[in-house]
Amino acid sequence: MTPSERNAATGPGPDIDTARTVDDLRARVSAWRQAGETVGLVPTMGALHEGHLSLIRRSRTLATRTCVTLFVNPTQFGPNEDFDVYPRDEAGDIAKMVAEGADLLFAPSPSEMYPEGEVTRVSVPGLGDVLEGNFRPGFFTGVATVVSKLLIQGLPDVAVFGEKDYQQLQVIKRMTRDLSLPVHIHGEPTVREPDGLALSSRNAYLSTEERRIAPALHRTIGSVATHVAGGEDPIRQSRWGSDILERCGFAKIDYLEVRDAETLEPWPGPTRPGRVLVAARLGRTRLIDNVPVG
Ligand code: PAJ
Repeated sequence: MTPSERNAATGPGPDIDTARTVDDLRARVSAWRQAGETVGLVPTMGALHEGHLSLIRRSRTLATRTCVTLFVNPTQFGPNEDFDVYPRDEAGDIAKMVAEGADLLFAPSPSEMYPEGEVTRVSVPGLGDVLEGNFRPGFFTGVATVVSKLLIQGLPDVAVFGEKDYQQLQVIKRMTRDLSLPVHIHGEPTVREPDGLALSSRNAYLSTEERRIAPALHRTIGSVATHVAGGEDPIRQSRWGSDILERCGFAKIDYLEVRDAETLEPWPGPTRPGRVLVAARLGRTRLIDNVPVG
């Protein structure tokens, strides 16, 4: 749909060139390439906030053209997860990406992404099975499948992802390397509220009381990171951190672990970069966060 066709349908407002099909996306990207442009891709599921916008800004420094993708990917949601109620606001998202200077929106339909009869999946065993993968079976296969499709469809020079979803970033880096996709994967630091809570579309589910408690997540893994960097035992520190979170009011700690920042295996110590990763439930909301060791 061209901007003027959309205006005819929805009335004027901020607008952006939009591709709804893979053919449209490829036509736009090849025109850019012929004009000597470089291409940055920012995959999202919409409900854009400052975290997503930081990725668009980064992409604009890494490439001359930026395409934002908006697709709430059904294959990465479990049967009891929030696919049906996941926030959707395409007009609001377009206004935000236009304000950041994005050049193109790719917003395919589910049947464009997953045509009738498709069966192929991309999985990253090991990296994709631990931590989040352990609690959300099939999640990283859904992510690796949709991201590999987006990268092959758009063939960007660079794709930008947030460290907020740290394990996702590692899975995507490994998948890109293993499949020899000619795309540079760039990881961007987590954008946080002033009190430390990582921005997330799911923060909207928190009650006032839960929102007050939520920053304890970042504070606690920050302390764990400082203590293990100072030589304290990672396993004892993980237990200590989980106890604190329970006392603060978190209902269930799925994991709080110190891991090797690249392989996500248990952290072998200061010879390797480490990462503290956590997932915990606050009421009915599941929050994740992570920080580097040292
Ligand atoms: P979504 O949750 O919409 O996130 C899109 C991108 O924004 C991801 O790379 C995510 O890590 C990043 N992001 C989210 N919150 C952030 C924050 N507070 N600071 C910095 N970056 C942040 O992640 C997905 O969508 C999907 O799994 C996707 C990769 C699009 C595949 O469907």
